[in-house]
Amino acid sequence: MNIKAYPAGGGTLGLHYDTNGITVLLFLTTNKEAPLRMQIERSHPSKKESWIEHRHIHACKGSLLVMQGRKVLHDSEPTISEQKFSVVYNYYERHDTYRHEDFDDFVYYGAKPNRLMQ
Ligand SMILES: [Fe+2]
Repeated sequence: MNIKAYPAGGGTLGLHYDTNGITVLLFLTTNKEAPLRMQIERSHPSKKESWIEHRHIHACKGSLLVMQGRKVLHDSEPTISEQKFSVVYNYYERHDTYRHEDFDDFVYYGAKPNRLMQ
């Protein structure tokens, strides 16, 4: 569990997949800026090809968002004048706790990763 703070004037999070399977976001602020942008893979038996659904979710204080973070490419649009705060719950399964070796140094200390991260 972490709290992500997006300061006014460019607070953002780059495009990525999560390392964990299930991600729950608890929004602590209501924002008209800096939506969570999601690219959700969709398919249907009646369609020949799959497609990507684009969603822009604006934070609403007290709301929970649940997503399959490994399957949904996502980022946070930069803030302009607002602050945004979210509690992030990353759920791993006992048999699947994979994280990149330099992931924690990147997330908690801002150390640049040695390789491309998800
Ligand atoms: Fe994420």
